[in-house]
Amino acid sequence: MIRLSEPTALHRIDRRIQGQFAEHLGRCVYEGLWVGADSPIPHRNGIRTDVVQALRHIKVPVVRWPGGCFADEYHWLKGVGEDRQPMVNSHWGGVVESNEFGTHEYFELLQQLDAEAYINGNVGSGAVAEMQDWIEYMTLDSTTPMAELRKRHGREQPWKVEFFGVGNESWGCGGNMLPLHYANQYRQFQTYVRNYSGNRISKIACGANADDYEWTDVLMARAGEHMDGLSLHYYTIPTGEWSTKGSATDFDDHGWHETIRQTLRMEELITRHSAIMDKHDPAKRVGMIVDEWGTWYDVEPGTNPGFLYQQNTMRDAVVAALNLNIFHRHADRVRMANIAQMVNVLQAMLLTDGPRLVKTPTYHVFDLYSDHQDAQFIPVAAGALGAHADATVSRKDDAYTISVTNWSLERLFTAEFELGGKVTEVLRAQLLHSDRPTAHNTFDAPETVALGDLPVQVDGRRVRFDLLPHSIATVRLGQPA
Ligand code: AHR
Repeated sequence: MIRLSEPTALHRIDRRIQGQFAEHLGRCVYEGLWVGADSPIPHRNGIRTDVVQALRHIKVPVVRWPGGCFADEYHWLKGVGEDRQPMVNSHWGGVVESNEFGTHEYFELLQQLDAEAYINGNVGSGAVAEMQDWIEYMTLDSTTPMAELRKRHGREQPWKVEFFGVGNESWGCGGNMLPLHYANQYRQFQTYVRNYSGNRISKIACGANADDYEWTDVLMARAGEHMDGLSLHYYTIPTGEWSTKGSATDFDDHGWHETIRQTLRMEELITRHSAIMDKHDPAKRVGMIVDEWGTWYDVEPGTNPGFLYQQNTMRDAVVAALNLNIFHRHADRVRMANIAQMVNVLQAMLLTDGPRLVKTPTYHVFDLYSDHQDAQFIPVAAGALGAHADATVSRKDDAYTISVTNWSLERLFTAEFELGGKVTEVLRAQLLHSDRPTAHNTFDAPETVALGDLPVQVDGRRVRFDLLPHSIATVRLGQPA
Protein backbone atom coordinates (compact mmCIF):
# COMPACT_ATOMS: atom_id res chain seq x y z
CA MET A 1 0.00 0.00 0.00
CA ILE A 2 1.42 3.37 -1.03
CA ARG A 3 0.21 6.29 1.08
CA LEU A 4 0.12 9.49 -0.91
CA SER A 5 1.09 12.68 0.84
CA GLU A 6 -0.34 16.08 0.03
CA PRO A 7 1.54 18.07 -2.60
CA THR A 8 3.00 20.64 -0.24
CA ALA A 9 5.96 22.63 -1.55
CA LEU A 10 6.60 20.08 -4.27
CA HIS A 11 7.38 20.74 -7.87
CA ARG A 12 5.07 21.05 -10.80
CA ILE A 13 5.36 18.67 -13.73
CA ASP A 14 5.96 21.02 -16.63
CA ARG A 15 3.71 20.10 -19.53
CA ARG A 16 6.72 20.52 -21.81
CA ILE A 17 8.10 17.25 -20.46
CA GLN A 18 5.71 15.75 -22.99
CA GLY A 19 7.33 17.78 -25.76
CA GLN A 20 8.03 16.42 -29.23
CA PHE A 21 10.84 16.61 -31.76
CA ALA A 22 10.36 16.85 -35.54
CA GLU A 23 13.49 16.82 -37.66
CA HIS A 24 13.99 16.97 -41.41
CA LEU A 25 14.89 13.31 -41.30
CA GLY A 26 13.40 10.48 -43.33
CA ARG A 27 9.62 10.74 -43.48
CA CYS A 28 9.05 12.80 -40.34
CA VAL A 29 8.43 16.23 -41.87
CA TYR A 30 7.73 15.19 -45.48
CA GLU A 31 4.91 12.63 -45.63
CA GLY A 32 4.53 12.49 -41.84
CA LEU A 33 3.49 16.10 -41.28
CA TRP A 34 3.66 17.90 -44.57
CA VAL A 35 1.98 16.63 -47.73
CA GLY A 36 1.72 19.96 -49.54
CA ALA A 37 -1.14 21.96 -50.93
CA ASP A 38 -1.78 19.65 -53.91
CA SER A 39 -1.93 16.36 -52.01
CA PRO A 40 -4.99 14.08 -52.23
CA ILE A 41 -4.32 13.24 -48.56
CA PRO A 42 -6.63 15.41 -46.44
CA HIS A 43 -4.71 18.42 -45.20
CA ARG A 44 -5.06 21.98 -44.06
CA ASN A 45 -2.57 24.34 -45.69
CA GLY A 46 -0.41 21.33 -46.60
CA ILE A 47 -0.37 19.74 -43.12
CA ARG A 48 -2.06 16.36 -42.65
CA THR A 49 -5.34 16.67 -40.80
CA ASP A 50 -5.27 13.10 -39.42
CA VAL A 51 -1.84 13.69 -37.86
CA VAL A 52 -2.84 17.04 -36.38
CA GLN A 53 -6.04 15.57 -34.97
CA ALA A 54 -4.16 12.68 -33.31
CA LEU A 55 -1.47 14.97 -31.90
CA ARG A 56 -3.98 17.49 -30.57
CA HIS A 57 -5.61 14.67 -28.63
CA ILE A 58 -2.40 14.07 -26.65
CA LYS A 59 -1.96 17.83 -26.12
CA VAL A 60 1.49 18.25 -27.66
CA PRO A 61 2.87 21.26 -25.76
CA VAL A 62 5.98 22.12 -27.80
CA VAL A 63 7.72 20.92 -30.98
CA ARG A 64 11.48 21.10 -31.44
CA TRP A 65 12.53 21.78 -35.06
CA PRO A 66 14.33 21.60 -37.58
CA GLY A 67 16.90 19.22 -36.01
CA GLY A 68 18.89 17.43 -34.67
CA CYS A 69 21.96 17.13 -36.80
CA PHE A 70 20.00 18.75 -39.62
CA ALA A 71 19.82 22.00 -37.63
CA ASP A 72 23.54 22.64 -37.98
CA GLU A 73 23.32 22.39 -41.77
CA TYR A 74 20.09 24.33 -42.10
CA HIS A 75 20.12 27.76 -43.68
CA TRP A 76 16.72 29.19 -42.97
CA LEU A 77 16.67 31.69 -45.85
CA LYS A 78 16.50 28.78 -48.31
CA GLY A 79 13.20 27.78 -46.72
CA VAL A 80 11.18 30.99 -47.00
CA GLY A 81 9.45 32.75 -49.88
CA GLU A 82 8.45 31.58 -53.33
CA ASP A 83 11.88 30.48 -54.49
CA ARG A 84 12.86 27.62 -52.19
CA GLN A 85 16.44 26.41 -52.59
CA PRO A 86 17.06 22.68 -52.38
CA MET A 87 19.99 21.29 -50.42
CA VAL A 88 21.44 17.90 -49.70
CA ASN A 89 20.43 16.34 -46.38
CA SER A 90 23.84 14.83 -45.84
CA HIS A 91 23.20 13.40 -42.37
CA TRP A 92 20.05 11.59 -43.30
CA GLY A 93 20.37 9.49 -46.42
CA GLY A 94 21.94 12.15 -48.65
CA VAL A 95 18.52 12.89 -50.12
CA VAL A 96 17.51 16.22 -51.61
CA GLU A 97 15.80 18.48 -49.11
CA SER A 98 13.42 20.70 -51.07
CA ASN A 99 13.01 23.25 -48.27
CA GLU A 100 9.31 23.26 -49.09
CA PHE A 101 8.65 23.05 -45.36
CA GLY A 102 10.30 26.06 -43.72
CA THR A 103 9.69 28.68 -41.06
CA HIS A 104 6.17 29.66 -42.18
CA GLU A 105 5.04 26.04 -42.49
CA TYR A 106 6.48 25.24 -39.04
CA PHE A 107 4.48 28.03 -37.43
CA GLU A 108 1.40 26.89 -39.33
CA LEU A 109 1.92 23.44 -37.78
CA LEU A 110 2.29 24.95 -34.31
CA GLN A 111 -0.85 26.97 -34.76
CA GLN A 112 -2.81 23.88 -35.81
CA LEU A 113 -1.43 21.92 -32.84
CA ASP A 114 -1.71 24.84 -30.41
CA ALA A 115 1.89 24.16 -29.41
CA GLU A 116 4.91 26.32 -28.55
CA ALA A 117 8.00 26.87 -30.70
CA TYR A 118 11.38 25.39 -29.91
CA ILE A 119 13.69 26.26 -32.79
CA ASN A 120 17.21 24.92 -32.99
CA GLY A 121 19.66 27.31 -34.62
CA ASN A 122 22.75 26.54 -36.69
CA VAL A 123 26.09 27.03 -34.96
CA GLY A 124 28.07 24.23 -36.68
CA SER A 125 27.96 25.62 -40.23
CA GLY A 126 26.09 28.86 -39.68
CA ALA A 127 27.02 32.43 -38.97
CA VAL A 128 26.11 34.69 -36.08
CA ALA A 129 24.44 37.16 -38.45
CA GLU A 130 22.34 34.39 -40.00
CA MET A 131 21.00 33.39 -36.59
CA GLN A 132 20.46 37.02 -35.64
CA ASP A 133 18.52 37.65 -38.85
CA TRP A 134 16.33 34.59 -38.29
CA ILE A 135 15.31 35.81 -34.84
CA GLU A 136 14.57 39.22 -36.30
CA TYR A 137 12.59 37.71 -39.19
CA MET A 138 10.45 35.66 -36.82
CA THR A 139 9.89 38.00 -33.91
CA LEU A 140 10.44 41.65 -34.79
CA ASP A 141 7.46 43.93 -35.34
CA SER A 142 9.11 46.72 -37.29
CA THR A 143 10.09 47.98 -40.73
CA THR A 144 13.61 46.54 -40.80
CA PRO A 145 14.66 44.50 -43.85
CA MET A 146 14.08 41.18 -42.08
CA ALA A 147 10.65 42.15 -40.74
CA GLU A 148 9.72 43.49 -44.18
CA LEU A 149 10.89 40.28 -45.83
CA ARG A 150 8.59 38.28 -43.54
CA LYS A 151 5.70 40.53 -44.48
CA ARG A 152 6.46 40.13 -48.18
CA HIS A 153 6.30 36.39 -47.60
CA GLY A 154 2.77 36.75 -46.32
CA ARG A 155 3.11 37.11 -42.54
CA GLU A 156 2.40 40.58 -41.23
CA GLN A 157 2.58 39.91 -37.49
CA PRO A 158 5.68 38.39 -35.89
CA TRP A 159 5.41 34.99 -34.28
CA LYS A 160 6.28 34.02 -30.72
CA VAL A 161 9.45 31.98 -30.28
CA GLU A 162 9.43 30.59 -26.76
CA PHE A 163 12.62 28.47 -26.94
CA PHE A 164 15.74 28.74 -29.07
CA GLY A 165 18.53 26.15 -29.09
CA VAL A 166 21.99 27.47 -29.91
CA GLY A 167 23.45 24.52 -31.83
CA ASN A 168 22.75 20.80 -31.51
CA GLU A 169 25.16 18.06 -30.43
CA SER A 170 28.00 20.52 -30.87
CA TRP A 171 30.27 17.78 -29.45
CA GLY A 172 29.40 15.62 -32.48
CA CYS A 173 27.44 16.23 -35.68
CA GLY A 174 27.07 19.91 -34.76
CA GLY A 175 30.74 20.76 -35.16
CA ASN A 176 32.85 18.26 -33.15
CA MET A 177 33.71 20.94 -30.62
CA LEU A 178 35.42 20.59 -27.28
CA PRO A 179 33.45 21.89 -24.31
CA LEU A 180 35.37 25.12 -23.76
CA HIS A 181 35.29 25.98 -27.46
CA TYR A 182 31.53 25.44 -27.57
CA ALA A 183 31.06 27.43 -24.36
CA ASN A 184 32.75 30.37 -26.10
CA GLN A 185 30.72 29.85 -29.28
CA TYR A 186 27.55 29.69 -27.21
CA ARG A 187 28.40 32.93 -25.41
CA GLN A 188 28.97 34.68 -28.72
CA PHE A 189 25.96 33.35 -30.66
CA GLN A 190 23.45 33.75 -27.83
CA THR A 191 24.33 37.45 -27.52
CA TYR A 192 22.44 38.04 -30.77
CA VAL A 193 19.41 35.93 -29.86
CA ARG A 194 17.43 38.99 -28.83
CA ASN A 195 14.05 39.63 -27.36
CA TYR A 196 12.04 41.77 -29.75
CA SER A 197 8.54 43.18 -29.66
CA GLY A 198 7.55 41.65 -26.33
CA ASN A 199 8.77 38.17 -27.27
CA ARG A 200 10.79 36.44 -24.52
CA ILE A 201 13.09 33.67 -25.71
CA SER A 202 14.43 31.01 -23.38
CA LYS A 203 17.92 30.23 -24.66
CA ILE A 204 19.01 26.62 -24.59
CA ALA A 205 22.64 25.62 -24.80
CA CYS A 206 23.75 22.33 -26.26
CA GLY A 207 24.30 19.92 -23.39
CA ALA A 208 25.98 16.63 -22.86
CA ASN A 209 25.92 13.34 -24.65
CA ALA A 210 24.71 10.83 -22.03
CA ASP A 211 27.35 10.59 -19.28
CA ASP A 212 29.72 13.33 -20.44
CA TYR A 213 29.72 15.10 -17.08
CA GLU A 214 32.71 17.25 -17.96
CA TRP A 215 30.66 18.91 -20.72
CA THR A 216 27.98 19.94 -18.20
CA ASP A 217 30.56 21.22 -15.75
CA VAL A 218 32.39 23.35 -18.31
CA LEU A 219 29.19 24.73 -19.84
CA MET A 220 27.67 25.65 -16.49
CA ALA A 221 30.92 27.21 -15.26
CA ARG A 222 31.73 29.19 -18.40
CA ALA A 223 28.35 30.00 -19.90
CA GLY A 224 25.70 29.15 -17.29
CA GLU A 225 24.80 32.77 -16.64
CA HIS A 226 23.86 33.25 -20.31
CA MET A 227 21.47 30.32 -20.64
CA ASP A 228 17.96 29.40 -19.53
CA GLY A 229 18.35 25.72 -20.32
CA LEU A 230 21.02 23.11 -20.93
CA SER A 231 20.14 20.06 -22.96
CA LEU A 232 20.88 16.37 -22.44
CA HIS A 233 20.66 13.61 -25.04
CA TYR A 234 20.32 9.97 -24.10
CA TYR A 235 18.84 7.21 -26.25
CA THR A 236 17.80 3.73 -25.12
CA ILE A 237 19.69 1.19 -27.22
CA PRO A 238 18.83 -2.38 -26.15
CA THR A 239 22.42 -3.60 -26.30
CA GLY A 240 24.03 -0.33 -25.30
CA GLU A 241 26.06 -0.64 -28.53
CA TRP A 242 25.45 1.51 -31.61
CA SER A 243 26.82 -1.20 -33.90
CA THR A 244 24.38 -3.91 -32.75
CA LYS A 245 21.20 -2.17 -31.71
CA GLY A 246 18.77 -4.97 -32.53
CA SER A 247 15.30 -5.20 -34.00
CA ALA A 248 12.33 -3.12 -32.86
CA THR A 249 9.94 -6.06 -32.96
CA ASP A 250 11.97 -9.25 -32.83
CA PHE A 251 13.32 -9.56 -29.29
CA ASP A 252 13.32 -12.12 -26.51
CA ASP A 253 12.95 -11.78 -22.74
CA HIS A 254 16.61 -10.85 -22.42
CA GLY A 255 16.14 -8.06 -25.01
CA TRP A 256 13.13 -6.79 -23.06
CA HIS A 257 14.97 -6.63 -19.73
CA GLU A 258 18.16 -5.17 -21.21
CA THR A 259 16.16 -2.42 -22.90
CA ILE A 260 14.54 -1.53 -19.59
CA ARG A 261 17.89 -1.60 -17.83
CA GLN A 262 19.31 0.81 -20.43
CA THR A 263 16.27 3.06 -20.02
CA LEU A 264 16.54 3.19 -16.24
CA ARG A 265 20.05 4.61 -16.67
CA MET A 266 18.27 7.91 -17.36
CA GLU A 267 17.67 8.24 -13.59
CA GLU A 268 21.40 8.13 -12.85
CA LEU A 269 22.29 10.45 -15.73
CA ILE A 270 19.81 13.09 -14.64
CA THR A 271 20.82 12.77 -10.99
CA ARG A 272 24.49 13.24 -11.76
CA HIS A 273 24.07 16.04 -14.30
CA SER A 274 21.67 17.74 -11.85
CA ALA A 275 24.25 17.58 -9.08
CA ILE A 276 26.73 19.38 -11.33
CA MET A 277 24.14 21.97 -12.29
CA ASP A 278 23.26 22.42 -8.59
CA LYS A 279 26.89 23.22 -7.84
CA HIS A 280 26.82 26.15 -10.29
CA ASP A 281 23.15 27.04 -10.02
CA PRO A 282 21.76 26.08 -6.59
CA ALA A 283 18.59 28.10 -7.22
CA LYS A 284 17.82 25.86 -10.21
CA ARG A 285 17.34 28.78 -12.57
CA VAL A 286 18.69 26.86 -15.56
CA GLY A 287 16.42 24.07 -16.72
CA MET A 288 17.60 20.67 -17.84
CA ILE A 289 16.12 20.08 -21.28
CA VAL A 290 16.19 16.42 -22.31
CA ASP A 291 15.54 17.33 -25.92
CA GLU A 292 16.33 13.93 -27.42
CA TRP A 293 15.37 10.64 -25.80
CA GLY A 294 13.71 7.37 -26.73
CA THR A 295 14.51 4.00 -28.25
CA TRP A 296 16.85 3.56 -31.18
CA TYR A 297 16.83 0.21 -33.01
CA ASP A 298 17.93 -1.11 -36.38
CA VAL A 299 15.73 0.34 -39.12
CA GLU A 300 12.85 -1.75 -40.42
CA PRO A 301 14.10 -4.25 -43.03
CA GLY A 302 14.02 -2.83 -46.55
CA THR A 303 13.84 0.82 -45.47
CA ASN A 304 16.48 3.49 -46.07
CA PRO A 305 19.08 3.17 -43.27
CA GLY A 306 19.34 6.98 -43.19
CA PHE A 307 15.63 7.39 -42.46
CA LEU A 308 15.61 5.79 -38.98
CA TYR A 309 12.16 4.27 -39.47
CA GLN A 310 11.33 1.72 -36.76
CA GLN A 311 8.27 -0.07 -35.41
CA ASN A 312 7.04 0.43 -31.87
CA THR A 313 5.87 -2.28 -29.45
CA MET A 314 4.70 -2.66 -25.87
CA ARG A 315 8.41 -2.49 -25.01
CA ASP A 316 8.49 1.10 -26.32
CA ALA A 317 5.38 1.91 -24.34
CA VAL A 318 7.11 0.78 -21.14
CA VAL A 319 10.26 2.72 -22.06
CA ALA A 320 8.18 5.87 -22.60
CA ALA A 321 6.37 5.50 -19.28
CA LEU A 322 9.55 4.84 -17.30
CA ASN A 323 11.31 7.84 -18.83
CA LEU A 324 8.36 10.12 -18.14
CA ASN A 325 8.29 8.86 -14.53
CA ILE A 326 11.98 9.74 -14.18
CA PHE A 327 11.42 13.21 -15.65
CA HIS A 328 8.54 13.75 -13.20
CA ARG A 329 10.74 12.81 -10.23
CA HIS A 330 13.30 15.37 -11.40
CA ALA A 331 10.89 18.01 -12.58
CA ASP A 332 12.43 20.54 -10.20
CA ARG A 333 15.28 20.64 -12.75
CA VAL A 334 13.88 18.95 -15.87
CA ARG A 335 11.67 21.58 -17.50
CA MET A 336 11.29 20.10 -20.95
CA ALA A 337 11.86 16.80 -22.76
CA ASN A 338 11.38 16.05 -26.45
CA ILE A 339 10.96 12.45 -27.47
CA ALA A 340 12.67 11.54 -30.74
CA GLN A 341 10.66 11.82 -32.89
CA MET A 342 7.04 12.79 -33.55
CA VAL A 343 6.20 10.88 -36.76
CA ASN A 344 7.89 8.03 -38.69
CA VAL A 345 11.32 8.38 -37.05
CA LEU A 346 12.75 6.46 -34.05
CA GLN A 347 10.28 6.17 -31.13
CA ALA A 348 7.42 7.85 -32.95
CA MET A 349 3.91 8.68 -31.81
CA LEU A 350 2.53 8.01 -35.27
CA LEU A 351 3.48 6.01 -38.34
CA THR A 352 2.17 6.83 -41.79
CA ASP A 353 1.97 4.97 -45.07
CA GLY A 354 0.52 7.15 -47.83
CA PRO A 355 -2.93 8.14 -46.53
CA ARG A 356 -2.85 5.55 -43.74
CA LEU A 357 -1.95 6.31 -40.14
CA VAL A 358 -1.35 4.21 -37.03
CA LYS A 359 -1.00 5.29 -33.44
CA THR A 360 1.88 3.51 -31.75
CA PRO A 361 1.89 2.10 -28.21
CA THR A 362 4.07 5.09 -27.30
CA TYR A 363 1.29 7.41 -28.48
CA HIS A 364 -1.09 5.71 -26.06
CA VAL A 365 1.32 6.29 -23.18
CA PHE A 366 1.37 10.02 -23.97
CA ASP A 367 -2.40 9.85 -23.96
CA LEU A 368 -2.39 8.08 -20.57
CA TYR A 369 0.01 10.70 -19.20
CA SER A 370 -1.69 13.82 -20.56
CA ASP A 371 -3.41 14.57 -17.24
CA HIS A 372 0.00 14.94 -15.57
CA GLN A 373 0.71 18.05 -17.64
CA ASP A 374 1.27 21.03 -15.33
CA ALA A 375 0.05 19.04 -12.31
CA GLN A 376 1.62 19.07 -8.84
CA PHE A 377 4.01 16.17 -8.41
CA ILE A 378 3.36 13.81 -5.53
CA PRO A 379 6.34 11.69 -4.62
CA VAL A 380 6.40 7.92 -4.84
CA ALA A 381 9.89 6.69 -4.09
CA ALA A 382 11.67 4.89 -6.93
CA GLY A 383 11.53 1.20 -5.99
CA ALA A 384 8.49 1.61 -3.70
CA LEU A 385 6.49 -0.73 -5.90
CA GLY A 386 9.09 -3.49 -6.01
CA ALA A 387 11.56 -4.60 -8.62
CA HIS A 388 9.29 -4.64 -11.68
CA ALA A 389 6.86 -1.79 -11.22
CA ASP A 390 7.03 1.98 -11.06
CA ALA A 391 4.48 4.74 -10.60
CA THR A 392 4.05 8.45 -10.96
CA VAL A 393 1.34 10.45 -9.22
CA SER A 394 0.19 14.04 -9.56
CA ARG A 395 -2.64 16.27 -8.48
CA LYS A 396 -4.50 18.87 -10.50
CA ASP A 397 -8.00 20.34 -10.36
CA ASP A 398 -8.92 18.38 -7.22
CA ALA A 399 -8.09 15.06 -8.84
CA TYR A 400 -5.24 12.62 -8.45
CA THR A 401 -3.72 10.98 -11.50
CA ILE A 402 -1.90 7.72 -10.80
CA SER A 403 0.05 6.02 -13.59
CA VAL A 404 1.58 2.62 -12.93
CA THR A 405 3.83 0.48 -15.13
CA ASN A 406 4.30 -3.25 -14.61
CA TRP A 407 7.25 -4.43 -16.68
CA SER A 408 7.30 -8.01 -15.40
CA LEU A 409 6.81 -10.43 -18.28
CA GLU A 410 5.08 -13.02 -16.10
CA ARG A 411 3.61 -11.48 -12.97
CA LEU A 412 0.42 -9.60 -12.33
CA PHE A 413 0.94 -6.48 -10.20
CA THR A 414 -1.69 -5.23 -7.78
CA ALA A 415 -1.43 -1.49 -7.21
CA GLU A 416 -2.80 -0.18 -3.91
CA PHE A 417 -2.83 3.48 -2.96
CA GLU A 418 -4.26 5.41 -0.05
CA LEU A 419 -5.18 9.03 -0.64
CA GLY A 420 -5.42 11.85 1.89
CA GLY A 421 -9.22 11.84 1.73
CA LYS A 422 -12.21 9.92 0.44
CA VAL A 423 -12.29 9.20 -3.29
CA THR A 424 -15.43 10.77 -4.72
CA GLU A 425 -15.27 9.63 -8.31
CA VAL A 426 -13.24 7.53 -10.76
CA LEU A 427 -12.72 9.98 -13.61
CA ARG A 428 -10.56 7.75 -15.76
CA ALA A 429 -9.30 4.16 -15.55
CA GLN A 430 -7.50 2.75 -18.57
CA LEU A 431 -4.98 0.04 -19.27
CA LEU A 432 -2.54 -0.32 -22.14
CA HIS A 433 -1.80 -3.98 -22.62
CA SER A 434 -1.40 -6.66 -25.23
CA ASP A 435 -0.94 -10.40 -24.93
CA ARG A 436 2.63 -10.23 -26.30
CA PRO A 437 5.45 -7.83 -25.37
CA THR A 438 6.31 -7.64 -29.07
CA ALA A 439 2.77 -6.59 -30.00
CA HIS A 440 2.57 -3.54 -32.24
CA ASN A 441 0.18 -1.75 -34.52
CA THR A 442 0.41 -2.14 -38.27
CA PHE A 443 -1.45 -0.47 -41.11
CA ASP A 444 -3.50 -3.66 -41.54
CA ALA A 445 -4.08 -4.15 -37.81
CA PRO A 446 -3.95 -0.67 -36.28
CA GLU A 447 -5.75 -1.52 -33.01
CA THR A 448 -3.62 -4.48 -31.85
CA VAL A 449 -2.33 -2.34 -28.99
CA ALA A 450 -4.98 0.05 -27.76
CA LEU A 451 -6.29 1.49 -24.52
CA GLY A 452 -8.90 -0.56 -22.70
CA ASP A 453 -11.03 -0.05 -19.62
CA LEU A 454 -9.51 -0.97 -16.28
CA PRO A 455 -11.60 -2.26 -13.34
CA VAL A 456 -10.82 -0.30 -10.16
CA GLN A 457 -11.89 -1.05 -6.58
CA VAL A 458 -12.46 1.98 -4.39
CA ASP A 459 -12.97 1.78 -0.64
CA GLY A 460 -13.09 5.17 1.07
CA ARG A 461 -9.60 6.61 0.72
CA ARG A 462 -8.20 3.46 -0.81
CA VAL A 463 -7.94 2.39 -4.42
CA ARG A 464 -6.80 -0.93 -5.84
CA PHE A 465 -6.33 -2.19 -9.38
CA ASP A 466 -4.49 -5.00 -11.16
CA LEU A 467 -1.95 -4.61 -13.91
CA LEU A 468 -1.40 -7.51 -16.24
CA PRO A 469 2.21 -8.38 -17.13
CA HIS A 470 3.85 -5.74 -19.38
CA SER A 471 1.12 -3.16 -19.03
CA ILE A 472 0.60 0.48 -18.11
CA ALA A 473 -2.39 1.97 -16.34
CA THR A 474 -3.70 5.41 -15.54
CA VAL A 475 -6.35 6.02 -12.91
CA ARG A 476 -7.71 9.49 -12.26
CA LEU A 477 -9.61 9.96 -9.04
CA GLY A 478 -11.72 12.83 -7.86
CA GLN A 479 -10.99 13.98 -4.33
CA PRO A 480 -11.90 17.39 -2.94
CA ALA A 481 -8.95 19.44 -1.69
O1 AHR B 1 17.21 12.01 -33.54
C1 AHR B 1 18.15 11.61 -34.47
C2 AHR B 1 19.51 12.25 -34.28
O2 AHR B 1 20.06 11.81 -33.09
C3 AHR B 1 19.55 13.74 -34.16
O3 AHR B 1 19.56 14.38 -35.40
C4 AHR B 1 20.83 13.99 -33.46
O4 AHR B 1 20.81 15.17 -32.70
C5 AHR B 1 21.02 12.74 -32.62
O5 AHR B 1 22.28 12.22 -32.76
